[in-house]
Amino acid sequence: MEFIDLRSDTVTKPTPEMRAAMAAAEVGDDVYGEDPTVNELEAVAAHMTGKAAALFVASGTMGNVAAMMAHTQRGAEVICGYQSHVFRNEQGQLAQLCGVQAHPLPELANGTLPLDLVAGAIQGDDQHHPITSVLALENTQNMCGGLPVGVDYMRAAGSLARAHGLKLHVDGARLFNAAVALNVSAAQLVADADSVTFCLSKGLAAPAGSVLCGDVEFIKRARRARKVLGGAMRQSGILAAAGLVALRSMVERLADDHAHAQQLAQGLARVAGVKLDPGVVATNMVYFDLDAQVAQTDAQIMARLREHGVLVDFLYSPVSRGFRAVTHCWITEPMVDRAIEALQHVLAT
Ligand SMILES: Cc1ncc(COP(=O)(O)O)c(C=O)c1O
Repeated sequence: MEFIDLRSDTVTKPTPEMRAAMAAAEVGDDVYGEDPTVNELEAVAAHMTGKAAALFVASGTMGNVAAMMAHTQRGAEVICGYQSHVFRNEQGQLAQLCGVQAHPLPELANGTLPLDLVAGAIQGDDQHHPITSVLALENTQNMCGGLPVGVDYMRAAGSLARAHGLKLHVDGARLFNAAVALNVSAAQLVADADSVTFCLSKGLAAPAGSVLCGDVEFIKRARRARKVLGGAMRQSGILAAAGLVALRSMVERLADDHAHAQQLAQGLARVAGVKLDPGVVATNMVYFDLDAQVAQTDAQIMARLREHGVLVDFLYSPVSRGFRAVTHCWITEPMVDRAIEALQHVLAT
């Protein structure tokens, strides 16, 4: 069966143009700095984010870990969101790999961390305290509905970080979704950030890889971190070639994914038993809940949707019945309609 796979934008497969570019890629040993395709990808990524340098890494997680290793010393702490990927979904990398403490704060519904709370969380110079070293933000904020965080907030967060000697890192796994949704450039969104990770392998559809961007000295330290993480690859230009196609041809079309997410949200909001405000959907993610009186369990609903050829993700929470559907380049308008019909049928029977 051909599935309508809405679990994540990570399920995207490379386009024919990417496969052709991969086959034709000029390569060399990247650990010697001799892979021309990796070098080109890093230059393009640095340019697009307005940073001086960039580092091709295996994944978004590796980019975030390398950034934290490059920005901190043991005994530091990182202020981040409770719902952030860095805090929740990277196996406690700050503790496990960096010897650093996470200082999580609650996000507002719009995906931002209140800056007065951030300011209050910064610890003074005292031998009792860890050294607050980094403010880590996420854009788009995945678990807050895939919300894009605007330029004004990012700038204010950057000023606050600078004023207290903190580095600002942005987990921009879906930075280009944010930029397209807000109609600004990626560089504008991270102008005040010291570093940013973005993923090539999500909505941009490359088969693997992310890029970490920052200044030259930072990237030099991050390159060392990538090595100890086992992420220094050799002829990785084969992968970077797909990344270049992603950056050159897959960014603007993200607007289609956002339109499909809006179509999906409006359709699902009309389904009896679904709790969803389509007004809060701003990029490619549609989070929805079910009314408490829906008798079927989440697992039953997922299994029945699968029988209809529709895959969605659900959130492992003891207190909510949250589901997530994510649009991407392999999802078309008719597929969205079929997914809505499938959920309608599953909940009605
Ligand atoms: C916000 C965010 N950051 C980082 C990552 C990590 O990316 P990867 O799966 O490439 O490690 C993800 C993955 O979904 C993500 O959603």
